[in-house]
Amino acid sequence: MSTERDRYAVVGHPVAHSKSPRIHRQFAEQTGEPVEYRAIDIPPGEFAARVQAFFAAGGKGLNVTLPYKEEAYRLAERLTRRARQAGAVNTLALQGDGSLLGDNTDGAGLVQDLQHNLHWDIRGLRVLLLGAGGAVRGVIGPLLEQQPAVLVIANRTPEKAVQLATAFGSGVRGCGYAALAGEAFDLVINGTSASLAGELPPLPAGLLAAGACCYDMMYGPEPTVFLRWAQDHGAATADGLGMLVEQAAEAFFLWRRVRPQTGPVLQALRQG
Ligand code: ATR
Repeated sequence: MSTERDRYAVVGHPVAHSKSPRIHRQFAEQTGEPVEYRAIDIPPGEFAARVQAFFAAGGKGLNVTLPYKEEAYRLAERLTRRARQAGAVNTLALQGDGSLLGDNTDGAGLVQDLQHNLHWDIRGLRVLLLGAGGAVRGVIGPLLEQQPAVLVIANRTPEKAVQLATAFGSGVRGCGYAALAGEAFDLVINGTSASLAGELPPLPAGLLAAGACCYDMMYGPEPTVFLRWAQDHGAATADGLGMLVEQAAEAFFLWRRVRPQTGPVLQALRQG
């Protein structure tokens, strides 16, 4: 009975398209955890009040999606180190003492997908991140922990990339796309929203080293423009559906202390 289950949800605006309810319901079924999970659309201006009401009514945890990740960061009473690094929260968890913990599982989800699903070992690779918005900021810390040889952030507005790189200290460099000319990378990760508009950042020729891998944090029924470009240049490619499932598994683990199997869930999503 639903009344016996612990309540969780994804909040955002819009949120109807979210795959999170389907993913978490499969995790619950697979692990036998008494979890109820739904999607809640929160209109602009109502985020804090609606989230507080959700927890006051007995809710246990929330996933937070666009456009509320920064607001969730400000609302959380405690933050994990990776949430602090990301400057954004995608998971809220009610703690035993009644406080609200904010975490960010996006970067861990990306790393898990790269390392364990795709077997693209990051250690020692020359890694290029495209974009300097929230999506990129959320994954820099976890990527650095894997010890790439270099991590470069390239952005249409170069100053934003430089600023972001500076915040993470040595080992990260920020620049514009033109400044990439003459450099080659083993792993290129697209964290821009250009794919949404069907656009491609102006990437110089020769950017991909032999055997390079390209990852788009976006996903959809068709490969993004970036992934088509990568395929045309002979790279191995992957979209962000695996990252979505892995960040969800990290959130489920934070809430339940049980780690679900992601493989079957990812496979089911790929089948539509
Ligand atoms: P998110 O939180 O999803 O990262 P964002 O903070 O709005 O969204 O950031 C969007 C990113 O995509 C930015 O890096 C943006 O570049 P600018 O900082 O120069 O605006 C990038 N972006 C969006 N459309 C792009 C395009 N057509 N070509 C290249 N980069 C694009």
